[in-house]
Amino acid sequence: MKLISCNANRPLSEAIADHLDCPLTDAEVKNFADNEIFVRINENVRGEDVFIIQSTSRPANDNLMELLICIDALRRASAARLTAVIPYFGYARQDRKTDGRTPISAKLVANLISAAGADRVLTMDLHAGQIQGFFDIPTDNMVALPVMVDDVRRRMANENLMVVSPDVGGVVRARSFAKRIRADLAIVDKRRPEAGKSEVMNIIGDVSGRRCILVDDICDSGGTLVNAAAALKEEGAVSVSAYITHGVLSNNAVARVDDSVMDELVICNSIQPRDEDLKSKKLRVLSVAPLLGEAIRRIANNESVSKLFD
Ligand code: R5P
Repeated sequence: MKLISCNANRPLSEAIADHLDCPLTDAEVKNFADNEIFVRINENVRGEDVFIIQSTSRPANDNLMELLICIDALRRASAARLTAVIPYFGYARQDRKTDGRTPISAKLVANLISAAGADRVLTMDLHAGQIQGFFDIPTDNMVALPVMVDDVRRRMANENLMVVSPDVGGVVRARSFAKRIRADLAIVDKRRPEAGKSEVMNIIGDVSGRRCILVDDICDSGGTLVNAAAALKEEGAVSVSAYITHGVLSNNAVARVDDSVMDELVICNSIQPRDEDLKSKKLRVLSVAPLLGEAIRRIANNESVSKLFD
């Protein structure tokens, strides 16, 4: 097996490599003066089972191009099988036509990854499960839920917990979380008057006196969580923590969380957090490296990965 890291999240690649006790393959992924990307694999990969680790997070287009060019280099170097390990799959929220004459960019990105020469994809908490079907190659969509549930069990066992979905679209994810920790479920009725803005209309469920856990796939501007936390506290919630897989954290999201009534924001390291964001006392990061590492090990050995969903 060979593990190759592009530049989006090298600390995660290193942690996966440590977990697998398999050093990262020597490779250069760099920019020419005009910003074009250049890749050189400095080790023989002929006939190897290769895993390329790259989140297509900010800057999304550069990181996507790095991934595509890296796949091309490995294909031309005669790797036997190429798995694109994409802990955070960017463009996932553009998964349908939202209006006339708009693209389905998630499908385009899936096509690009296949066309570049990937044989399979390993990803995590796709924004919508059906994006898996945008790929015509085998795609494993891991869930970070076991990592989050372990954390809740360690830190908040025996509390009066209530899992809360921040919108109707997240109910399946939140229900599965609630079932694991044997808690009740509440739902925030969220509306988006325009892209990037959210409003809370109602809370479905009685959250009074409960410690609330908001569960979502993405925190982008933080608006969804901050508004939900305010509404939950108004309805009598004792505390509000949020467990999020992908900390996209654009536009001062962490400052917005710091200034809000939300008590804690827990994200996974599918996207490398910025140093300034890590200074926040409300932000905590859970590692998904062991989970992804184990999935890679199982794929390489042709073992089942569905065990990891338990
Ligand atoms: C939307 O459906 C997603 O699951 C997230 O709730 C959304 O992307 C969060 O965005 P923001 O943090 O900007 O409110």
